Amino acid sequence: MKPSIYALTLPACLLQIAGASQPGATQSNAWPARPLVWGDINFLFTTDTHGWLMGHTKSRPPEPNYSADFGDFLSFVTHMKEIAQEKGVDLLLVDSGDLHDGTGLTDGSPTGQPNAHEACSNKFITRLPYDVLATGNHELYKYSSALDTRQNFVPHWNGRYLTSNVNVTLYQQPDMGISAPLGARYRKFTTLQGKHVTAFGVLFHFTWNAPGTIVQSVEDLVEQVWFREAIADPPDLFLLAGHMPVHLEEDPDVNVNDWPIVYYAIRQVHPTTPIFIFGGHSHKRNCTVMDEHAIAVQGGRYMETVGWLSANLTEDGGYSRRYLDTNRNTYQYHTRLREESFDTAAGLKLTNDIAELANKWNLHDVFGYAPQDWYLDRVDYPDKQSIMTLFLDEVLPTVMRLGAPERSHIPLLAIFNRGSIRYDIYHGAFTRNDQYTVLPFKNDFFYATVPWAVGKRVVDGANKKREDEAQLRNARRIMMPSLRHTQGQESDAVVMQKVFSGPEEQLTLGYVTQDLCDGYADDTIHLDIGGMDRADDYMSSPPPELDDDDLIDVIFPSFVAQPIVDVLNKLFPGQNYSIPTLPIYCGIQSDQVFEVYARHMWN
Ligand SMILES: *[C@@H]1O[C@H](CO)[C@@H](O)[C@H](O)[C@H]1NC(C)=O
Ligand SMILES: *[C@@H]1O[C@H](CO)[C@@H](O)[C@H](O)[C@H]1NC(C)=O
Ligand SMILES: *[C@@H]1O[C@H](CO)[C@@H](O)[C@H](O)[C@H]1NC(C)=O
Ligand SMILES: *[C@@H]1O[C@H](CO)[C@@H](O)[C@H](O)[C@H]1NC(C)=O
Ligand SMILES: *[C@@H]1O[C@H](CO)[C@@H](O)[C@H](O)[C@H]1NC(C)=O
Ligand SMILES: [Zn+2]
Ligand SMILES: [Zn+2]
Repeated sequence: MKPSIYALTLPACLLQIAGASQPGATQSNAWPARPLVWGDINFLFTTDTHGWLMGHTKSRPPEPNYSADFGDFLSFVTHMKEIAQEKGVDLLLVDSGDLHDGTGLTDGSPTGQPNAHEACSNKFITRLPYDVLATGNHELYKYSSALDTRQNFVPHWNGRYLTSNVNVTLYQQPDMGISAPLGARYRKFTTLQGKHVTAFGVLFHFTWNAPGTIVQSVEDLVEQVWFREAIADPPDLFLLAGHMPVHLEEDPDVNVNDWPIVYYAIRQVHPTTPIFIFGGHSHKRNCTVMDEHAIAVQGGRYMETVGWLSANLTEDGGYSRRYLDTNRNTYQYHTRLREESFDTAAGLKLTNDIAELANKWNLHDVFGYAPQDWYLDRVDYPDKQSIMTLFLDEVLPTVMRLGAPERSHIPLLAIFNRGSIRYDIYHGAFTRNDQYTVLPFKNDFFYATVPWAVGKRVVDGANKKREDEAQLRNARRIMMPSLRHTQGQESDAVVMQKVFSGPEEQLTLGYVTQDLCDGYADDTIHLDIGGMDRADDYMSSPPPELDDDDLIDVIFPSFVAQPIVDVLNKLFPGQNYSIPTLPIYCGIQSDQVFEVYARHMWN
């Protein structure tokens, strides 16, 4: 390989830090099954990284398969951009949002600075050469984070951070707010190889955003004069990054897929201009071919997946997509580099700086030792290995009782929305960082003391309300066209046998993706880890045996206070609950409950 113009490759003798990845990370022993297929335009894409810049450091399967950190990723991207240049083709790097919320690096600041301030704004993500980024809903739950994004993250990107339908209100004076796009609305640029690109960054019609942030519906977006003008001239390709899934979910309530609206708006003007869509939000790998010249892909969550998409922009050009497991084997295999020549100086520095911040914030402090694994979506409540079972049956009631001993004479029902529980717990040391990967959100616990006749109907009432609202929203949904390539398509099993020639026992646990595009997409062939689609429904601690007249404390986190209050007021006429007057149950907040539990029960 030619000497790099992008980065210096250090000789092995200078590698002082642990061969990269974070200290203590267990490396993968799995390898990709076959090389990538390049085109004249190529993309690497990430989405929903949620602060997993350290990568996955646990030794339990399949965590080692995702053990590369952002420093490793930076080295990989740097080499891949060089390879593209040698081949005389383009490689663009795209992110589809949700950088915030999810690990100690985003949520564990001891000084209470805005979420993800260090990880995003100041330090880490800005070192990656992203060509286009879009915003996610998690960047907008708090005004302070949105403002921090606008003031400290957006300027770095020089027009590459795209928020086509998201504004933020900026205050010069307390009562003089000016609405302005959070990032840039669109980007027109020319690639190194001279292709003209028009790019947008779109967020689904998110409605739980903080006051002071504005999310315009996608229907309204495509009617804007500036949007019509921006798509008027035909580029060589449209690049649509955005925080909405590229596929329909089984349970569509959480995930609003408005891609078809943008797609049709462009197709009306440009029937055959190539459109590349990069989705997000549902935390799943998927792919849909929309027409002969348009494809939509999505790459999963938590830095488990780096997506690959390539195409030839020729008359009979093909495409190829792949979901790469994020480990150093994957990165070295596809860059044809050995361990001793893979790391770039910038990559190693990023690894080092991430490790330093993790230490500074005590993210490796051990709260206790988990006696077993609990899984987020391999099994469901009330399975003994489900994290929901641990949380609802054990953690929540135990910690609420510990936090409010003065209320121990009244039975309790603790309600929580499932979507706020974010990850597995693995057997062994449970650290401060693990606390944030399981439950990163900081909420107070409110309560209302009601007769059991009311209390026992709150969870069902809240779920009914959620479903009714989803139905209303979905009534207007436009379906994604999906061109299934069935002609001559081989079954997944046949393709899998072709790309993996070893005995089945050698397969490792991981994702086996069934998307709607041609051929077999997983880069490393795995035994299926399974997993279910989870709706963000309301669940509760086990209901006590009570008479209808007995009083109970119904406890719920502030995040879902409004829907719960609405349901309480409906079920309990004559009462008039409102959030400002709700009492707080205990001094413990939601991002502390696992710590309190681990300290008490796992030592
Ligand atoms: C991938 O995960 C499987 C288990 O999942 C593990 O056996 C295998 O060693 C992993 N590849 C790894 C882990 O390096
Ligand atoms: C966003 O800000 C721009 C510029 O100030 C303004 O013209 C536009 O109306 C705003 N959009 C929304 C949806 O508030
Ligand atoms: C991909 O999307 C299709 C269509 O919505 C769905 O049937 C399939 O289960 C999805 N695959 C994954 C891995 O989520
Ligand atoms: C693009 O064309 C080249 C040359 O014909 C071919 O080798 C490659 O496989 C094509 N790439 C894709 C993604 O179809
Ligand atoms: C309920 O309380 C709110 C404010 O807390 C008040 O504005 C409203 O008038 C009250 N409604 C009834 C029916 O008492
Ligand atoms: Zn997400
Ligand atoms: Zn999201």
